[in-house]
Amino acid sequence: MDPIALIDELYEKNNLSDEGLLYLLDHMDQRHQHYLVERAHDTRMRVYGNRVFMRGLIEFTNYCKRNCTYCGIRRENDKVERYRLTPGQIMKSAETGYGLGYRTYVLQGGEDPYFTDERLAGIIEAIKSRFPDTALTLSVGERSRESYQRLFDAGADRYLLRHETASRELYEKLHPGMSYDNRHRCLLDLKDIGYQVGAGFMVGLPGQGNKHLVEDLRFLKSFRPHMVGIGPFIPHHDTLLKEEPAGTVSQTVTLLAMVRLLLPEVLLPATTALGSLDNLGREMGIQAGANVVMPNLSPTEVRDKYLLYDGKICTGDEAAECRQCIEGRITQAGFAIDMTRGDHPGWRA
Ligand code: 5AD
Ligand code: FES
Repeated sequence: MDPIALIDELYEKNNLSDEGLLYLLDHMDQRHQHYLVERAHDTRMRVYGNRVFMRGLIEFTNYCKRNCTYCGIRRENDKVERYRLTPGQIMKSAETGYGLGYRTYVLQGGEDPYFTDERLAGIIEAIKSRFPDTALTLSVGERSRESYQRLFDAGADRYLLRHETASRELYEKLHPGMSYDNRHRCLLDLKDIGYQVGAGFMVGLPGQGNKHLVEDLRFLKSFRPHMVGIGPFIPHHDTLLKEEPAGTVSQTVTLLAMVRLLLPEVLLPATTALGSLDNLGREMGIQAGANVVMPNLSPTEVRDKYLLYDGKICTGDEAAECRQCIEGRITQAGFAIDMTRGDHPGWRA
């Protein structure tokens, strides 16, 4: 097999056999990666042009009942200073975001039982009635179908729930007490209810090899999410995985490009984790087909408490500074910011 021919096939058909995907990952050198990134860039230009959508991220609670081995805010980490934003603080962050031009909010948090359907629905309704021209994305983990329905009815438009890894074996190793099947049930329910859904995975997880990454790509191709979040695994000093090596910027960039080719219309963020591993990580992601960034709108007082991994960027910056910074970076890299809602093209409003 010839990697260049495989990249051509992936570019033309937006698909490739598992053997082809594995061969590509196993044989990716700098020259092949350069070609792959160019094909992915061409595809994003055709579908979206040079625009990059902005989403304002509000990290509203770091309480979490889960114990994911890689994550800094896992339940058993008793060194974390836990916080919850009040509905008033959340609204204030949304107001700041609106003033800065954001038209999408992402409410992200740990799996915090304090935020019952009732409380979350109240917050969603308040934001959506105050700012009807915005899209609201939730990222609050696994819940029941009834709960997802209730939050959708309250006005939530989108939901991010990374599948984390499509390998059942690896998933179970990294998520003690959690169920692979339930996570996939959640993703199917979310889609069925009518959310625009984001799945996604980490690159460079301990024990992960290229064959696992092929499973991730295959899962994404068959599930067809509207959004895909991909970031490198980065160890957190208070977890059992603290001594493990981080994923690499290069492999993350390769996978972003491959996802752009498999799902040409997908909304694909250049993640904060990628920007945390390398000062120019997000720019490299955007050049490889990523078309979304999610700058932080959380109040500065809580920023350094929402640490899923070490070395997270932007923890000291005001919302306006992040807005400025990211705009500068995007335009510097030859792209343009887009402050509209930025729905998926295949989504019926
Ligand atoms: N390194 C990189 N990403 C992480 N996440 C959680 N912990 C880490 C880590 N140590 C990711 C997970 C989760 C998302 C919000 O952050 O994929 O879904
Ligand atoms: Fe937050 Fe650069 S994006 S400071």
